[in-house]
Amino acid sequence: MLKIGLTGGIGSGKSTVCRLFSEFGAPIIDADIIARQLVEPNSSALKKLVSQFGKKILNPDQSLNRAYLRDLVFSDKTQKAQLDQIMHPLIYDEIEKQIQELDCKYCIIAIPLLLETQQMQRVDRIAVVDCNADTQLLRVVSRDHLKPEQVVSIIASQMPRQQRLSFADDVIDNSGSSAQLAEQVKRLHNSYNLLATC
Ligand SMILES: Nc1ncnc2c1ncn2[C@@H]1O[C@H](COP(=O)(O)OP(=O)(O)OP(=O)(O)O)[C@@H](O)[C@H]1O
Ligand SMILES: [Mg+2]
Repeated sequence: MLKIGLTGGIGSGKSTVCRLFSEFGAPIIDADIIARQLVEPNSSALKKLVSQFGKKILNPDQSLNRAYLRDLVFSDKTQKAQLDQIMHPLIYDEIEKQIQELDCKYCIIAIPLLLETQQMQRVDRIAVVDCNADTQLLRVVSRDHLKPEQVVSIIASQMPRQQRLSFADDVIDNSGSSAQLAEQVKRLHNSYNLLATC
């Protein structure tokens, strides 16, 4: 099975592209969904996070207060590294487990931090969803109602655009319309099917 690692900066359009691939029947493994599922109340991952960061990261109903944890680690590199040390191995283990369960020609594995975590060897090809920072900013602000400064600092904390593009086997240009995006996904779906049978 051909494993396509799909990545891109915040708000570049990864989830939108995943939806388009899944409309063609491609299975999607999504690191963001896995990360959320791993920390459900009473999970062992959530217990590890509480023992690392304290009960202050919990909401009154014992679920994870994501916004609090995000703010906590965003301004503190050591705490961010501790969070990553707990979550990344668990996320990659679950990704590998889900890959083993698939039986298809190709699959899409969406990993926002595929390049930052240097896990490129886990996939056969890298597809980067790309648009400029102004477009990322506009789309994320209107989607999440965050302050522009917050989004600017998240973009600045991620891999620079040109460096990310240098890893791409396939670039999905998402600076245009939804229709233009869908057309590119259709072309890639056909090309991945061909590549998988070679
Ligand atoms: N071509 C497009 N034209 C207009 N809006 C778009 C386009 N592509 C994506 N969007 C919108 O931009 C926002 C960001 O897209 P999406 O959620 O797919 O990005 P993402 O890369 O998954 O973001 P994140 O990194 O936060 O997970 C969404 O609201 C989406 O509907
Ligand atoms: Mg997304």
